[in-house]
Amino acid sequence: MSLDDFYAVALDLVKQSGAIIRDRINRPKDVMIKSCDVDLVTESDQQVEKLFMDGITAKFPDHRFIGEETTSSGEKVQLTDAPTWVIDPIDGTMNFVHGLPHTCISVALLINKITEIGLVYNPILEQFFTARKGQGAFMNGNPIKVSGEKELKKALVMVELGTSRDPEKMKIVMENLKILTSKVHGVRALGSAALNMCMVALGGADANFEFGIHIWDFAAGDLIVREAGGCCIDPSGGELDLLSRRVLCASSQELANEISNLLIQYFPERD
Ligand code: IPD
Repeated sequence: MSLDDFYAVALDLVKQSGAIIRDRINRPKDVMIKSCDVDLVTESDQQVEKLFMDGITAKFPDHRFIGEETTSSGEKVQLTDAPTWVIDPIDGTMNFVHGLPHTCISVALLINKITEIGLVYNPILEQFFTARKGQGAFMNGNPIKVSGEKELKKALVMVELGTSRDPEKMKIVMENLKILTSKVHGVRALGSAALNMCMVALGGADANFEFGIHIWDFAAGDLIVREAGGCCIDPSGGELDLLSRRVLCASSQELANEISNLLIQYFPERD
């Protein structure tokens, strides 16, 4: 079995998952609370994750999974060298619950801990972002690239408040917002970590950072941004670590470095 086979099967399953999200977004939902009142999950999150995992297992029984809804009950993520699918079945669950059309499925395939495939599909706005290592990034089959912006004062920066309301974390999030707002063109938040990163890949925004996200929120976005010519680093300036729950991506290394130097750092418990 080759990467082409893995890619073709995943593409089909992501399209099927997207059809479920599209069908359900404007219907009443069963909403459950996870870590706190603003960290939500719906029956659709669980169904989409199951659909994807069952579909992959039927074709590639030795593949492993790190799925938001099967992993996030507290246990540590086990990332091995085996082919591993990292899935966020609905990224932007809060948006999905409210019917705000910025919501997507995000899927990455890691082999030997290297990301080979990244897929992010917003089925409401029909934006399908795809990337394979060394082969560029695409939206709906058309090549995309980052803006290349290097100057902070001209940058549009995607931010998020995140799904934790821990006072220490909230204080740092707010302070970072305050620091950046006076120095950039603008700040925006889509409510989906994966889509924020895809906006950087598309060249519609110039940078994005977040503390406290999980591997399933940013593994696919990381590859899509890098294949679109951008860079993804740890917010402190070092190499990106997919289990660190920290990401900073930008349209250029210069911009990433400048943002990194300004940020007050926050180190959540690792995945
Ligand atoms: C969340 C969204 C949100 C981000 C959080 C994520 P979910 O994912 O991406 O924008 O700020 O950190 O956990 O819970 O909707 O899959």
